[in-house]
Amino acid sequence: MGQNLARNVASKGFPIAVHNRTSAKTEEFVATYGHEGDIVGGATMADFVGALERPRAVMIMVKAGAPVDAVIEELIAHLDDGDVIIDGGNSLFTDTERRVRSLAARGLRFLGTGVSGGEEGALHGPSMMPGGSHDAYAVVAEVFTKIAAQVDGEPCCTYIGDGGAGHYTKMVHNGIEYADMQLIAEAYDLLRHGLGLGNDELHEVFSTWNAGELSSFLIEITARIFAVRDDQPPVAGVAGAPGHLIDQVLDQAAQKGTGRQTAQEALELGIPVTAITEAVFARALSALRDQRLAASTVLPGPVPGDARVGDDRQGFVDAVRDALYASKVVAYAQGFDQLRAAGAEHGWALDLGTTAAIWRGGCIIRAQFLNRIRDAYTEHPDLANLLLAPYFTELLARTQDNWRRVVSEAVRLGIPAPAFSSSLAYYDGYRRAQLPANLIQAQRDLFGAHTYERVDRPGTFHSAWE
Ligand code: 6PG
Repeated sequence: MGQNLARNVASKGFPIAVHNRTSAKTEEFVATYGHEGDIVGGATMADFVGALERPRAVMIMVKAGAPVDAVIEELIAHLDDGDVIIDGGNSLFTDTERRVRSLAARGLRFLGTGVSGGEEGALHGPSMMPGGSHDAYAVVAEVFTKIAAQVDGEPCCTYIGDGGAGHYTKMVHNGIEYADMQLIAEAYDLLRHGLGLGNDELHEVFSTWNAGELSSFLIEITARIFAVRDDQPPVAGVAGAPGHLIDQVLDQAAQKGTGRQTAQEALELGIPVTAITEAVFARALSALRDQRLAASTVLPGPVPGDARVGDDRQGFVDAVRDALYASKVVAYAQGFDQLRAAGAEHGWALDLGTTAAIWRGGCIIRAQFLNRIRDAYTEHPDLANLLLAPYFTELLARTQDNWRRVVSEAVRLGIPAPAFSSSLAYYDGYRRAQLPANLIQAQRDLFGAHTYERVDRPGTFHSAWE
């Protein structure tokens, strides 16, 4: 990532110095890519810092956590008042807040910057979410806005807010990424094992979806994945015909933690981000492969003969598409709701319309419908929930029958669809004027005298229920 970002900066005509703690890597980088721009290698930290103009702007691209602090400590011995340190990794926002404060006390400015888009994005234009020192942003704004992805002539980069606002926004981006990926995986499972589509058919279905309202980076790469053939020779004694690579990939999802952090922070705020949280749990469940293999021989599912989708195959494909779209809308609505609440909690003036705008290009969750989200927040900056924006209300009205059908079919077929079904449950909960929470309040008051409010008069009440 760091190398590609450096090449991106150089290719835009900005001079850049690079440093890696392994000096051979620095030399190799300069030897390979030095011709792409004004690139200088610094064998030592002192050489590297010495090559920079003041006020210096140094971007760190290392693993989140202790490595960031270690590099900062090494770096600051060489920096001067007013220099800027930028952390472009997936740091926890509370770490970023601490670094902003501690570096300010030492006369340095800090920008915790979410950078999304993977290796390709870093090279050709990522989505960038800088937060922290506002005047530090002024130092790097020209470079950042030039190296970022551009959509309709607008850079996918804006100053997000002070403290840890940039990394918080990136964390929620990643949470939505988890939900989006899980929803696509559930659609895959239903089409593969419910409908029995093969990989070539899945490639066609996802390619078709990518040409419509669902058009997005994640749908596009999903379509591409189904077309890839395995180039490895069969392993002697291991079952499995040569075929598509996807069928050889072990079904255990890894995670580095930003999805989990999003869910944890949502719990702290009391904001229901059910799709993101279910996506994190789904990865955790997938990791229990040994237990799943054992349980698969013991725990019964539906009667095998019943586990078939009806004859209307195209109808079911369309229903899964609608369920995917509706669930995605819920997942994004929940993520934006979390950003709204976090902004209020932490005192960040987050502009949700602009956040949607800078996610339209470069990042992993870039999708056509982010234009609609941008429009919704631009028209109504105080929108309580994205589901209430007319475009999304109409979309949910149009897709909800198919959404319900798919969730019912998933239950009937015994195919887990936790993100589809929890998104639908959220939708049904959010649109209900009356929920059964009155009973929960009554129970709390009965066993713990926790009191309750009444619908017919103001005040706080406790009753002798027995
Ligand atoms: C991005 C991604 C990236 C993230 C990977 C892996 O926006 O470019 O979100 O920052 O690190 O997607 O995340 P997991 O390993 O947790 O799936």
